[in-house]
Order: sequence, then C-alpha cells, then structure tokens
Amino acid sequence: MSAFGFRHLGSDGRARLGEVSTAHGVIHTPAFMPVGTVGTVKAMTPESVASTGAEIILGNTYHLMLRPTAERVERFGGLHRFMNWPGPILTDSGGFQVMSLAKLRTMTEEGVTFQSHLDGSRHTLTPERSMEIQRMLDSDITMSFDECTAFPASEEVAATSMRLSMRWAKRSRAAFSERPGYGLFGIVQGSVYPELRAESVAALTDIGFHGYAVGGLAVGEGQEEMFRILDVTTPLLPEDRPRYLMGVGKPSDIVGSVMRGIDMFDCVMPTRSGRTGQAFTRRGPVNIRNARHQEDPRPLDEACGCPACRSYSRAYLHHLARAEEVLGLMLMTWHNLHYYQDLMRELRAAIAEGRLSRYAADFAALQAEGDI
Ligand code: GUN
Ligand code: ZN
Repeated sequence: MSAFGFRHLGSDGRARLGEVSTAHGVIHTPAFMPVGTVGTVKAMTPESVASTGAEIILGNTYHLMLRPTAERVERFGGLHRFMNWPGPILTDSGGFQVMSLAKLRTMTEEGVTFQSHLDGSRHTLTPERSMEIQRMLDSDITMSFDECTAFPASEEVAATSMRLSMRWAKRSRAAFSERPGYGLFGIVQGSVYPELRAESVAALTDIGFHGYAVGGLAVGEGQEEMFRILDVTTPLLPEDRPRYLMGVGKPSDIVGSVMRGIDMFDCVMPTRSGRTGQAFTRRGPVNIRNARHQEDPRPLDEACGCPACRSYSRAYLHHLARAEEVLGLMLMTWHNLHYYQDLMRELRAAIAEGRLSRYAADFAALQAEGDI
C-alpha cells in the first residue's frame, strides 16, 4: 500500500497542479468531488460518475451514521464496496450537517448531542466518535471534527468557535488511526477575520495534518469576501500539503479559488441544481424548464461531450423536466458533473501550460455573454 501523499507538480501564479495519493487511487488536482451524501451520487451510477472524470467522491458521517449506520457499512466491507465506488472517498466529519439538519442540538466541550432528522433518535458526535465512524466507513480522507461558525458572527463569537474547533482538531488527530494511504485533514475556521484565520492555521500546522481544509466559507459572505479570506489564508498553509475549500461552489468560485491556491472542492450545486432543472454551461446557467427551450433542437452546451449533450435536444430535456421524468434528473446531473470535470481538466491544463490568467479571462467573458 502506498503512503498518503501530495506531489506538487507545478504552479502558475498561486495556482497549483498536483496529485494526491490515497489507498484507493490517485487524485489529480485541482479536483472537484461530487457529493454522495448517503452513499450515492444522486441520479448517477458509480460508473457514470467515473465516466465524467471524477476521481474522488464525498460521503457524510452524519447521514451514514444514522442510516444505514457505520457498523453496517463496515460489515459490508466499507463504503467503497457497499456502494461499488472503488476510487478514493472523502468523508465530512458530521458537525456541519448536525448544525444544518439535526433537531434539538446541544453543544458542549465534549461534542454535540442531537436528534436525528429521520426518526428523532438521540445521538452524540465527538471528535473521537467521528474518527471511529470515518474509519468504519473506510474513508480515504477523514475530516477533523469542527464547528462551522455561523455567518455573520462577531469577532468574539468567531474566536470562541474557532478555538473550540482547534481543540477538537487536536482530539481528532489523537483519535485518528494512522494507516498507509489514509489521511486526516484539519479545518481552518475564523469566519471573516484575518487574525483568527492566521491563529487557526498556526494551531493546525502545529498539530500537523495530511492536508488542510478551509471551512466556514460560502455561508453567505459573498464571493468577494470569500476571495479576500482566501487571499490571507492560503499563503499561510504548508506548500507540500493539499488544500480543500469546503462546500464550494459556483464555477466562477472554483476558478477564482484555484487562482488563490486551492486544490480540492466539493459542492452539491451540480447535482442538486441538475435535479431542479438548472444546467451549467460555458455560457452560464440555463434553466431547462424555461419555455424558450421547448422547440430548441440544440444540445445544452455545444462544447460538451456528455451523453445528454451528444444525444438529446434541449426540447427533449425540457419535456423530461416538465413531465418530472427520472431520466431528466439523470441526464441533467450527468451533464452538470461532466461540465464541472471539464472545468477542472481545463484548469489543470491551463496551470500546466502557464496560461491560467488568460483562461480565467476567457472563462469570465464567455460566462458573461450568457446563453444565446
Ligand atoms: N462544509 C462546508 N463548510 C464546512 C465547514 O466549515 N466544516 C465542515 N466540517 N464541513 C463543511
Ligand atoms: Zn453536456
């Protein structure tokens, strides 16, 4: 088994080209991870996810511990075998989803106690329990247990929250069982306050992780503010470890964040908005339910090679969406994931060839033109 590791292969400005090696394979970065919260990337088979070019998917501790339970997944040989995804898997640690989904939450120094959004049953997550669950899932990349600071937060509230996350990060590190090919990422918090972000990076790098995530962003602060925080955070992170921006984002968020030194992303946007009829294209978003598509023989995106664009008209996809047919969800999701992976491929090629600034300018110009 090869060791967990990051190879930094090249740079263009602050953007990086790299490779993350895990127990279940290599991830080329910058990378986008489709979200498979409950052990499925919704409306896609694992084979179709892989065919878009995705090399790693994301799962969620919170959902999987409630159903089917980490114990059952472990009995079936781990999440890779249970869901038939042989490649790398990253799991989020649970705290973020507890805060957005669970009922009757109580947070203490020890951890979080909550009621399941499914059946009201009571559960506790601590850094130690989160590490145990992620080990049972056989996650290649385990996330440390943290609190995503709500936005907006005063500097005092943000500092208290971040320092709790740093104590939990230390407990996560101690509870993580080190195995070849498996990595643990620390999560930087500190809201929109540069001094707090710097304090958080210092605390995490002092503990030492296999990679570093930037959390607590894309929570309502807006793109400009998010980029301002990345500008003061990524330069402080170790160059020889992967960097992951959690829960981001729109295509333009990804381009701007890659230019600020981020290597990994995840977001529900391509999958979730695919199911509501929004397609991402090189000319910006398209709502396929709009009546202007009902007689349109063109594909969603002329430059896309996905099955939805190769074989189906906008008129047909419009019909499927209006008729609420399952195939509509599948084709729209497939297109969106293919679009996101094309974007990542193009970003990696642009970094490798030292033309990222021009790529980003062309990208923005085309998005601004809009769908015509
Ligand atoms: N997903 C999006 N943001 C966050 C965050 O701050 N922490 C965790 N654990 N997951 C996230
Ligand atoms: Zn397509």
